[in-house]
Amino acid sequence: MAPDFLCIGHRGARGHEPENTVRSVRRALELGAHGIEVDVYFVDGELIVIHDDTLERTTNGRGPVAGKSFAFLRSLDAGHGEKIPTLREIFDAVDRRAFINIELKGPGTAAPVQSIIEEYIRAGWSCEDFLVSSFDHGELARIAHPKIRLGLLFPRAPLRFVRLAQKLRAYSIHTAARSTRRPFVARAHRHGLKVFVYTANSPRSIKRLHAIGVDGVFTDYPERVVPSVSF
Ligand code: G3P
Ligand code: MG
Repeated sequence: MAPDFLCIGHRGARGHEPENTVRSVRRALELGAHGIEVDVYFVDGELIVIHDDTLERTTNGRGPVAGKSFAFLRSLDAGHGEKIPTLREIFDAVDRRAFINIELKGPGTAAPVQSIIEEYIRAGWSCEDFLVSSFDHGELARIAHPKIRLGLLFPRAPLRFVRLAQKLRAYSIHTAARSTRRPFVARAHRHGLKVFVYTANSPRSIKRLHAIGVDGVFTDYPERVVPSVSF
């Protein structure tokens, strides 16, 4: 049975390892995360995993991610000698030990993300191994596979979300920790939506979100959420 309070490793285990790297994802799995969240761009025909649209903060490169060759991006150091991973490398590192939340960051990501998910499903993976989310609801709406789960990301808990969620047949709604309150969670649940909240790192925030009934949290420190039974 799935736990009722899911721990989703934010960019892997960002509190311990360079974010959005295979090393970070492995660490999150070791720490017991039920899900792994990564951020994805489509550049030079490849799905790559990085948060910012520029290279400076997380690599030794400079300038925008867009327009770079895949070979150049792969030559960079994303921390501790890790490369910027491909989404495929993340899938293979996770290997169905957790679900993968793919956050669409860049334009043109929906179609290639759908294709790679379909490829893994054909190879025996399940739709439940994936959850695709985005702040860009237009991009998210381009995921055409009816069984791929979609998560609507919002910068804060929104007043209006039901119609959009129904239109996109969303599985979940993802909101910022500070703005997420009990009535919002109850309303989302009444409409059949799961609520996943980012980014919960302090024990106090994790405890509060558990108490108001959210279904899971994104955290840089998976070990602070798992096990959650002691709350
Ligand atoms: O998907 C949850 C969270 O990752 C959204 O914000 O900026 O960390 O990608 P960000
Ligand atoms: Mg993200």
